[in-house]
Amino acid sequence: MSTRKGIILAGGSGTRLYPITMGISKQLLPVYDKPMIYYPLSVLMLSGIREIAVITTPQDQDQFRRTLGDGSQWGVSFQYIEQPRPEGLAQAYLLAEEFLAGAPSAMVLGDNIFFGHGLPEQLAAADARATGGSVFGYRVADPERYGVVDFGPDSKVRRIVEKPAVAPSPYAVTGLYFLDGSAPVRARAVRPSARGELEIVDLLGSYLRDGLLSVEQMGRGYAWLDTGTHGSLLDAGNFVRTLSERQGMQVGCPEEIAFGQGWIDAAALRARAALFSKTAYGAYLLRLIPTAADDRSP
Ligand code: TTP
Repeated sequence: MSTRKGIILAGGSGTRLYPITMGISKQLLPVYDKPMIYYPLSVLMLSGIREIAVITTPQDQDQFRRTLGDGSQWGVSFQYIEQPRPEGLAQAYLLAEEFLAGAPSAMVLGDNIFFGHGLPEQLAAADARATGGSVFGYRVADPERYGVVDFGPDSKVRRIVEKPAVAPSPYAVTGLYFLDGSAPVRARAVRPSARGELEIVDLLGSYLRDGLLSVEQMGRGYAWLDTGTHGSLLDAGNFVRTLSERQGMQVGCPEEIAFGQGWIDAAALRARAALFSKTAYGAYLLRLIPTAADDRSP
């Protein structure tokens, strides 16, 4: 089991999804058949992480508690932390400092969806790096919307720049950050940017300056979707639906991961399936339970 702790950053104001997000948090909106936050949660669980802080706005916390509970249904534990105002991604490390208690962490943004062959291995490699930080670069058509990797002549990472007017490369930094135990201390040295936020690129810059940041590529076999606009939210839902109906396999199913990791048993899975008995999701959970017929031992 990983000693790394997890953070899901699920605050923010979601203004690009107005009027929908005037009354509900973006990260609780549906991405096809489940709440958006299930997908980033699944990434942390795939990394072997069981202690997770869920950072939300104060007004949305109740709904997150109702949706996710204490985590025991998935063999994990959640601690809920408020972010009073959306003052930047790096602020998460200040808010979670006590929760982390010096442990290394993996933080994922609550509106990021990852899918791809080899993802568990890539996560395990990042988890195995005890010191420094690992982030993931992904080629996108519109890098200006993200933190972008600037490669030097030797193809080493020179800088990461937030929303540049002209992108130095097509590689965006995804919303998944594996950082060592020094992240809160480093976050304290970050000053608010012109837009008044503690920028994650400045925190990553601190690792970079010390030669401690590794930028891994997520290749073309991966999907990294963000769900921040009306169109991208619908696209993500359609993507999940197409994939899961075609393959008969779920994307971002915490029960399946927990069962696979041995964190919950068949009885716990059956209890979840009963809760969702009117849905294809519930039927899927039941199919995960091995039956006597599956036992091919002589
Ligand atoms: P953004 O998409 O940059 O911001 P937002 O969700 O507030 O949306 P909008 O731009 O439409 O107003 O945020 C990316 C993710 O990070 C998202 O899951 C929300 C989260 N977030 C926080 O939890 N706290 C913050 O201070 C910020 C800036 C973002």
